Amino acid sequence: MRVIHSIKKMSAYSSDKKLKKKIIGFVPTMGALHEGHLSLIRKARQENDVVIVSIFVNPAQFGPTEDFKKYPRNFQHDVYLCRKENVDAVFYPKTKEIYPSGYSTYIEVEGLSNILCGRFRPGHFKGVATIVAKLFNIVKADNAYFGQKDAQQAVIIKKMVQDLNMPVKIKVMPIIREIDGLALSSRNAYLNPQERQAALVLFTALNRARRLIKNKVKDSRRIIKDLKGIIKKNRSAKIDYIAVVDPDDLAPLDKVKNKALIALAVHIGKTRLIDNIVVNCN
Ligand code: PAJ
Repeated sequence: MRVIHSIKKMSAYSSDKKLKKKIIGFVPTMGALHEGHLSLIRKARQENDVVIVSIFVNPAQFGPTEDFKKYPRNFQHDVYLCRKENVDAVFYPKTKEIYPSGYSTYIEVEGLSNILCGRFRPGHFKGVATIVAKLFNIVKADNAYFGQKDAQQAVIIKKMVQDLNMPVKIKVMPIIREIDGLALSSRNAYLNPQERQAALVLFTALNRARRLIKNKVKDSRRIIKDLKGIIKKNRSAKIDYIAVVDPDDLAPLDKVKNKALIALAVHIGKTRLIDNIVVNCN
């Protein structure tokens, strides 16, 4: 397995593979890899000749008061896991390599970026779209793998690819959870044992939504009110939002019909967690 630091070498590596008609699968990450990331890597391994994983904690997607500095970093272990999964190359650039001084170009996917998480994290999705576009250009991926865990991110990346005619296919994979239902996240490492227990309220609330919809409750306001009640019982939980939206374009749904994405963001202590489910109701 190659570990590549420079854009020039990464680009040359991919160009060589393309010349040899190899299909490139790409998994962008910020490292601190867990089973959620590995599920994307495994799918990429199944579907491509060459698998490239990027590890880059992208400063552009963190707000000034967010956790960029303390975001978990565990490069040696990440490399070990990538090797175990038969990854061909890990792209691990320095911040200066990606954003040299004078860097000034950013991508904004309008509309989709300032709703849901975007309302609470201004500039976040601009940072995400920009780094993902740059990585696509460097890695020249045929297929790129994203997690449904970050549902809004996946919708935004798909829209960017469509709007800018990028020659890459976006694949979105299901959320991987702990046995008790907590969605895997690098940020779970911040939770102390009490908070870890309290964090289960996200999954509990989403399951409650699923049950309500199954029992023919279709009114989104009623569903959201019910979920708020469940989460607010938990003293360490603070809700950013609970939303019922169209899974394809994130448009709010007054009434649940066909497919609905129930998405929420909740602070448990100092840690901001997100989770979601897609409910089919026909
Ligand atoms: P990161 O949080 O490291 O996640 C990398 C990929 O793993 C994302 O596509 C995310 O949705 C997916 N993922 C995370 N937890 C998951 C889980 N429990 N189940 C399934 N997939 C999961 O998302 C980012 O990094 C960054 O924003 C990035 C796209 C790399 C741009 O910087």
